[in-house]
Amino acid sequence: MIIYKTEAEVELMKKAAMLVSETITEVAKILKPGITTLQIDSLCQQYVLDNKAIPSFKNYHGYPFAICASVNDVVVHGFPNNIPLKEGDIVTIDLGVILNGWHGDHAYTFILGEVSTEILQLVRVTKESLYKGIEKAIVNNRIGDISFAIQEHTEKKYGYGVVRELVGHGLGKNLHEDPQVPNYGKRGNGPKLRENIVLAIEPMINLGTKDVYTDKDGWTIRTKDGKPSVHFEHDVCVKKDRALILSDYSIIEAAEKANSNLNTNYYTN
Ligand code: MF3
Ligand code: CO
Repeated sequence: MIIYKTEAEVELMKKAAMLVSETITEVAKILKPGITTLQIDSLCQQYVLDNKAIPSFKNYHGYPFAICASVNDVVVHGFPNNIPLKEGDIVTIDLGVILNGWHGDHAYTFILGEVSTEILQLVRVTKESLYKGIEKAIVNNRIGDISFAIQEHTEKKYGYGVVRELVGHGLGKNLHEDPQVPNYGKRGNGPKLRENIVLAIEPMINLGTKDVYTDKDGWTIRTKDGKPSVHFEHDVCVKKDRALILSDYSIIEAAEKANSNLNTNYYTN
């Protein structure tokens, strides 16, 4: 059952999504080789608590941390750990919060220092695919239009692996609501989009095979071939002519560009 939001509820959800964006911006300011993902986890947890919100992933079906920190071949749900990040790593920071009862949930992939042009392209194309999906999140389209747009741009155009086992989702008073938002599918298929459906759209795109496996910890999802994977996620509200993006990459990107330890060479502007 899809739960439609009122205008007032969308406003509250924007505040939750923006707190996630602001927290990830704090990460963008301090990211550098040598820092551990456990340090990033405590920074995020503290920032969220200081802003009168609750990290939503912690204890969600037993998940033990505030963030997911997914490095290189980890697709999603990576546990923060005490291994220092190093030059050439790519790391996705995925964070969820509950603010005044409403969820924000989004993610951003950072590049530390020099990486191959192959990886730069994977990051660029995955981010582009998120926006291609968002363009389809308008009234009278269907979920499959979003899915198809993401798959076309990544799998069809670049031969990347589109993860099948994990999908985007509705978002509201719950972290995961209907409908599911796969990153693959057919145009014109699936539930019809109506005004004020809020979706977390989240392409998870692999450089190589689409196949993944779960680590012994029961959470960490990795690519089967060990090649890198990228994940970007935005919270969006379906509208008539153009989706309203509730989260905000512009503040993250500004901090990313200002941090000389981070690689933004894939940016076109
Ligand atoms: N962004 C992810 C999702 O929407 C993160 C969930 S991690 C979990 O599913 F620990 F909360 F499950
Ligand atoms: Co999500």
